Amino acid sequence: MIREARPEDAPALIELERLCPEMGRAAVRIDLRVDHFGLASRYPGSRGYVALADDGSAIIGTVFSSVAPTQLNGRLLPAAYLFSLRVHPSYRRRGVASTLIAHACERALVEVGALTAWAAIVEGNDASLQTAERSGFVRIRDLRAKILLGGLACPDTLSILGRIGACPDTLPIIRRIGAWPHLATRPASLSDLPALADASNRFHARHNFWRPKTSQRLQTELETLRRSPRDIEVALTTEGTALAAASALEVARIARLRLVGLRGLPNLVNRLLSPLFGLFPLNALLVHHYFSPPDQPAVGAALIQALHRRYLPPSWAAIIVVDPLDPVSNALDLLWGISGRVHLVVKGDESIDRSRPSYLP
Ligand SMILES: CC(C)(COP(=O)(O)OP(=O)(O)OC[C@H]1O[C@@H](n2cnc3c(N)ncnc32)[C@H](O)[C@@H]1OP(=O)(O)O)[C@@H](O)C(=O)NCCC(=O)NCCS
Repeated sequence: MIREARPEDAPALIELERLCPEMGRAAVRIDLRVDHFGLASRYPGSRGYVALADDGSAIIGTVFSSVAPTQLNGRLLPAAYLFSLRVHPSYRRRGVASTLIAHACERALVEVGALTAWAAIVEGNDASLQTAERSGFVRIRDLRAKILLGGLACPDTLSILGRIGACPDTLPIIRRIGAWPHLATRPASLSDLPALADASNRFHARHNFWRPKTSQRLQTELETLRRSPRDIEVALTTEGTALAAASALEVARIARLRLVGLRGLPNLVNRLLSPLFGLFPLNALLVHHYFSPPDQPAVGAALIQALHRRYLPPSWAAIIVVDPLDPVSNALDLLWGISGRVHLVVKGDESIDRSRPSYLP
């Protein structure tokens, strides 16, 4: 049985999240500090659905869906972004996830005529990818995920290491960066939000899956995740106007993440290593670009670093996900880090124009 999630489901959903480490290249256990409803409200038009055990007593699965006007091939159409799909380990391979997905898609169709649904799946999460494909989703794109490691990614550290010859590998990177722009940056304030919303709508005008933002929407996104406009860094031109902007979310504010295993290692080795994994909470910073000058990737790169530096040392790793066709992708080429992929899967009548970059909310 499927029904809409209710606020009183919050503790059961938090427990379900804990039992369902998302398995990509690494399995990460998530202990949420906010409930799913708080998390979901960062997306417009969000609601959750839960699957109940046969006797109706326990929640055995969930999915959330955010339905809102979305850019698809240059038009603004209602579409559903599905996220937080979880099924209790004891109830897997019985069609629970497929039923939840079908239900969320049907509600979006019936309520606002949304014919398109999409979702993001981290590389290596084969169960999730196969579930999506069985539900009629097609993998249309691989987004680039980059994990930037704090101290190492700072150009100052790179040049010092390069100069003393401690790390000759850094020299080509320094050359590639060339004259790293000395960028004046500052945290944003509430009064910046209208201009930031406008500039990011212009920047994403061609992107598929972008939902045009208002300053009110930006403010809601920030507030629901325990942030404020100060979590946005703005790069300024010499005249003081905004040249680029990006926001950061310290994952530790909303969840405690622990590595529970690495894909490829035998179970026994993972079990032996687990006390060691437990010693290192994963304090990551999620970075979202609002806009950046497409022809100056070094500005985008310098902005990401300026933002990251503010949250060091606790958030030693910054994670950023962009489409390879997004201009910000060129900025990532200039930064050191570990690369991965996030699969974008889509279901619907609209055949997605793959020459346009996609946006991940
Ligand atoms: C991914 C997940 C939601 C699937 O839930 P589920 O209820 O077991 O999925 P379904 O029973 O609806 O599976 C439908 C089909 O998907 C495929 N599939 C699902 N899990 C699979 C697995 N582990 N390996 C291979 N194929 C799988 C199968 O084709 C399956 O049909 P079949 O059982 O008739 O062969 C569940 O494994 C889970 O909660 N994982 C951890 C959290 C997570 O990664 N969430 C997704 C984030 S994007």
